[in-house]
Amino acid sequence: MARETLFLVALACLCINLAAADWNILSPKWRFDAKQDTWKNYCESWRINVELNNIRDFEVVPQECVDHIKKYMTSSQYTADSERAIEEVTLYLTRCCTLKGDGKDAWIFDVDDTLISTIPYFKKHGFGGEKVNSSSLEAWMEQSKAPALDHTLKLFHEIKDRGIKIFLVSSRKETLRSPTVDNLINVGYHGWSSLILRGLDDEYMHVEQFKTQARKKLVDQGYRIWGIVGDQWSSIKGLPEAKRTFKLPNSIYYLS
Ligand SMILES: *[C@@H]1O[C@H](CO)[C@@H](O)[C@H](O)[C@H]1NC(C)=O
Repeated sequence: MARETLFLVALACLCINLAAADWNILSPKWRFDAKQDTWKNYCESWRINVELNNIRDFEVVPQECVDHIKKYMTSSQYTADSERAIEEVTLYLTRCCTLKGDGKDAWIFDVDDTLISTIPYFKKHGFGGEKVNSSSLEAWMEQSKAPALDHTLKLFHEIKDRGIKIFLVSSRKETLRSPTVDNLINVGYHGWSSLILRGLDDEYMHVEQFKTQARKKLVDQGYRIWGIVGDQWSSIKGLPEAKRTFKLPNSIYYLS
């Protein structure tokens, strides 16, 4: 009798433990916070739809999602996602291109949030939750303090070492040329063929139009554009197109 009771008690304990363990797995925080979960889902789906180019032309990150975007853009997941994209470029390079070695093989990079990061600026300025103040952003760019995105830095040199000419096409203004060059050199970039920035005439057109025009000029000069790496859809869309394009994550701002 006593033995059976003990067994039942033991069994009951085990069941309670199992139930507790289950509860634990289902809800690590021991408390289901429906509201928080809903926002997390909403904000992550907002983020992924920005990357998919379904959500366009946003001026600010939705207020409820600023924290979520900040967490992502400063997380190891952002780094892993970027590294993964760059690995795909490396893979593409091993089999893509029958380089002619005639000096006409070309590759295009964006500058901001592709070669160098604006995250230190946005950390101090609302992280996408405030409309971008271009004069304050440009004042920051003039300081030439943007850090390199290490995975792209490595790729930049790999591409250059293959004898492919590198063109940097950026929506930064022509007036920022000198601080931009300083910044790039300071963090390890050198040996690009041309840095194409927006002159006064180009400031009135959309970024996409400016960047397609820049590609058109290169193609007209006989360049074969094997690929583009950029963080904005406006850097990779439009004609003439590159043979392949690679999009890096960025859900802080949208340039059209
Ligand atoms: C934008 O930034 C500049 C320079 O930091 C500042 O003087 C100006 O008030 C800001 N404008 C807005 C609309 O916040």
